[in-house]
Amino acid sequence: MSATLSAARLAAALTPPVGVAYRDLADQIRMLIVDGRITAGSRLPSERELAAATGVSRTTTARVYAELREAGLLRSRRGSGSVVCVPFGESSASSLIVTPADDTGIALTYAAPVAPSGLGRAFEAATARLPGLLSTPGYLPDGLPALRELLAERYAARGLPTSPDQIVVTSGALSAVSLVARAFVEQGDRVLVESVSYPHAHEAFVSAGARLMPVPVVADGPWDVEAAVAMLSSGRHLAAYLIPDFHNPTAAVMSESERGTLARAMRQTGTLAVIDESMRDVNLDGVALPPSFGSFDRDTLLVDSASKTIWGGLRVGWIRAPHDLVMPLVQARMMHDLGTAAFEQLVLAEVLRDPEPVMTSALDGFRSQRDHLVALLAEHLPELDVARPAGGLSVWAGLPDHNSTRLVAAARDHGLLLTPGPRFFTGAPIAGEAFLRLPYTQSPAVLDDAVHRLAKAYEGRRADHAPAGPRLDLIA
Ligand SMILES: Cc1ncc(COP(=O)(O)O)c(C=O)c1O
Repeated sequence: MSATLSAARLAAALTPPVGVAYRDLADQIRMLIVDGRITAGSRLPSERELAAATGVSRTTTARVYAELREAGLLRSRRGSGSVVCVPFGESSASSLIVTPADDTGIALTYAAPVAPSGLGRAFEAATARLPGLLSTPGYLPDGLPALRELLAERYAARGLPTSPDQIVVTSGALSAVSLVARAFVEQGDRVLVESVSYPHAHEAFVSAGARLMPVPVVADGPWDVEAAVAMLSSGRHLAAYLIPDFHNPTAAVMSESERGTLARAMRQTGTLAVIDESMRDVNLDGVALPPSFGSFDRDTLLVDSASKTIWGGLRVGWIRAPHDLVMPLVQARMMHDLGTAAFEQLVLAEVLRDPEPVMTSALDGFRSQRDHLVALLAEHLPELDVARPAGGLSVWAGLPDHNSTRLVAAARDHGLLLTPGPRFFTGAPIAGEAFLRLPYTQSPAVLDDAVHRLAKAYEGRRADHAPAGPRLDLIA
């Protein structure tokens, strides 16, 4: 049985004023389906119910559903309603990330760079070490010993004494978060999260049965630590998942005193700290970061990966865990996979023996791309509120007319794929309409083209709204 989405809930997910035009309503629902806010298999309200809930005519909703059916996003059958489907076979799933509708388009939906120069040499050097690996069975449920040693040394150098057996190598940071969720979360457990965050991590907790409890975090501002402490004290929370360093998507950095206060509250309430440090090394301006959250609470689970400063294609991440949590993690992993690919771990070990050249090349590239994107936005889209992030991989732009979903739908018509702000929000997605995430992981030439398309989309949307006339809700 598919879940039914009520007309009231669907109407609440749309940005008001809904249905200024038929196009607008169709675009908004399409975005909700394409970015996963309405999942495949959900049953939409009837055309009549949606018309009543949004105040548009029945002819309009009929036209909207007809268009969604034509686009392959909706299947309607007499007696069983309209069910959402996602028109991509498994084999084309990667095209969701890599290319928009046609090859001339641009996707700024992911903040993932191409491999930095020098990585090819690490692959060659790893090949020279292959004979040693090939003479083993190659199953490494907790990771390649040489890599675990290098990662432990890296933490020790940062002031966090770590033994290699505290490291569990995973297939990326998301796989690490997902493993933590599967190992420790039980149905209905509360997990404190930031209200704006990396959405797949939240989804990993939800799929393990967690109830997410969001606390606010704002760009360039503090985390609402007071609200977080109050929430932790109000009832048992199994865990808190936070991104304190160059937070994705806001790029905010949690201060030392905020880390101290939160870590104390977590210790006192027995809450497991799950700290995602994937962005910590993407420190473009050499900011003096506060110590790792792990320095404030020894029982913290630290999650990290090679994806951002080295290459997402390696698919190697890891967890630094307190000794007593290592076995539960490895056991939970055994039900899912039996280890991360051995050769890629050899490659990462090779990079970590001399990380400077590869990391410097990656950071130099990001820095110039960030500066380029910020300059382009200032020139072509001065209406957007853009702060230059000191680290991370994207600009979190403020939109004066709070129309992220509409703007993203318009940009798609110009061959530019973006992720609308609400996708990053848990709890109050409508707040995300005021934001747009713009990654700078692509070349300056691609960014030129992307901003050009975005500016055209922005203009187009404004023209649509210009003749709106007096506001209907202002009745005197
Ligand atoms: C905060 C955060 N965690 C995890 C991930 C996923 O990383 P990985 O590619 O290592 O799975 C990302 C990717 O953008 C991220 O930003």
